[in-house]
Amino acid sequence: MSFDRSKEFVEEGDEVILFLGVSQMYSLEATPTIVNKRGETVDYVFQTSYGALKVATLVGAKYGTKVDLSRGWAYILQPTPDLWTLTLKHRTQIIYTPDISNIVYLMDLEPGSVVIETGTGSGSLSHALIGAIKPHGHLYTFDFHAQRVALATIEFDKHGLAPYVTVQQRDACQDGFGENLKEKVNAVFLDLPHPWLTINHAIKCFRKSGGKLCSFSPCIEQVQKTCDSLATAGFVEIKTYECLQKELTVQYKTVPVLSLECLKNKQTDGKNLKNGREAGGQERLVTVSHAHSLPGHTGYITIATLPPSSMRNC
Ligand SMILES: C[S@@+](CC[C@H](N)C(=O)[O-])C[C@H]1O[C@@H](n2cnc3c(N)ncnc32)[C@H](O)[C@@H]1O
Repeated sequence: MSFDRSKEFVEEGDEVILFLGVSQMYSLEATPTIVNKRGETVDYVFQTSYGALKVATLVGAKYGTKVDLSRGWAYILQPTPDLWTLTLKHRTQIIYTPDISNIVYLMDLEPGSVVIETGTGSGSLSHALIGAIKPHGHLYTFDFHAQRVALATIEFDKHGLAPYVTVQQRDACQDGFGENLKEKVNAVFLDLPHPWLTINHAIKCFRKSGGKLCSFSPCIEQVQKTCDSLATAGFVEIKTYECLQKELTVQYKTVPVLSLECLKNKQTDGKNLKNGREAGGQERLVTVSHAHSLPGHTGYITIATLPPSSMRNC
């Protein structure tokens, strides 16, 4: 129950984030024992680059405090959807927080929204969608892969999110989303190889007031087909974005400074320009530079609006 409400102390069964650094985080279940590969129940000992953690010691510990590892220490944090995205076990490609934040914003999600998502995949986006729409909203998430549906159901339950989500095994392209969602939802999100095949099914699920459909696709050819189908189906304001992160670092640097006076003298002496620079000395300046490596393409986010039913042509 560690995602649903903020709490002070770790309880047995909580998902806990073990934070060794911004690029070294793990999620683990606070459970004293686990079943090993030979089927034996043994003490749960979690290995890190700073040594081992006896997981039983987490139960009762205060979130945000340090815990001892055999060769160092780490912080224990309560999970949030974005920490979960960074630490979850991948069963599929997942959507990451920079794209997720745009998706949640573009779909106009708020507490109380009712949303369809397909496919569920590893549940990365699902956790953020639930975070945006709870406590009164509901997420209906579909995947045609039985094991992914089963694991997502277990995870939502363990994380205390079961009241806000319904997971169903279903081929959304072939079978749509079911009669029970007819005219029920505010928004539909698609992360599928063939999103355009679900659009006519999705339309039936929107409330009479209309809503937003968002699709995430890695390839531009998928975007072209999706946008074409959206326009044919009566969606308006169809836009596609690519979210590229560009990190800038502001820092002090000591840089050589050119002395014009010195340069002038050296030039008249017939010496080279480099000497003028060296003679100028050094200065400490605040500088801005780009990160050495920048994250590249993830996918294209297409957002479209379905107008209220009274304003639709078909
Ligand atoms: C890239 S993953 C989704 C990842 C997810 N957005 C996340 O952030 O964890 C795509 C998922 O769509 C599912 N899928 C593909 N075609 C489908 C279909 N026609 N109906 C339902 N699910 C489908 C796949 O099984 C896969 O789990």
